[in-house]
Amino acid sequence: MDVLNCIINRRSIRRFKNQNIEIQKVEDILKAAMYAPTARNQQTFEFVVINNRQMLDDISEIHPYANMLKQAPLAILVCHNHQKVKSDGFWIQDLAAVTQNILLQAYSLGIGSVWLGVYPREDRENGLKKYLNLPEDIVPFSLVALGYADENPHTTNRYDSNKIHFNRW
Ligand SMILES: Cc1cc2nc3c(=O)[nH]c(=O)nc-3n(C[C@H](O)[C@H](O)[C@H](O)COP(=O)(O)O)c2cc1C
Repeated sequence: MDVLNCIINRRSIRRFKNQNIEIQKVEDILKAAMYAPTARNQQTFEFVVINNRQMLDDISEIHPYANMLKQAPLAILVCHNHQKVKSDGFWIQDLAAVTQNILLQAYSLGIGSVWLGVYPREDRENGLKKYLNLPEDIVPFSLVALGYADENPHTTNRYDSNKIHFNRW
């Protein structure tokens, strides 16, 4: 699948089939995540892969907009390790690129996903830190629900040439 097709046709999926994701696909998704660009190549990311049914149900109660976790067979919590920072302040962009790579690689493998925002909502960060027993220097950044899609949302046009400015505004 070419990159533009993947980017245009990927949509957030919030309904999942009762079907597990093959471990090789999970590994490929994590590999794509780790090849994201990061400032000074600092790679502060860490991942918690959650595929325990009870835990996914519990987390759907901790995060206020994560009901789909009750159906999803797996979620990846994308975390930031503050001890690994080389370039102050850029970790948020880094982790957003990591998260986007997860969504795109999942889509290219036929897996549906949705990005659930965690950072900078302190209640979500604290709830997840406590529930998953994360160490002090680990910041939960985003949670991605993953699974085989049980819906097919259509893609709407987002291309708008009025938003493009050449040379000057
Ligand atoms: C930072 C961020 C936080 C998001 N948080 C949530 C969330 O908590 N729950 C949810 O269902 N979707 C969440 N989304 C998904 C967006 O709602 C979705 O990407 C947007 O509506 C565009 O739709 P699309 O992904 O199908 O293109 C989030 C997306 C981003 C980038």
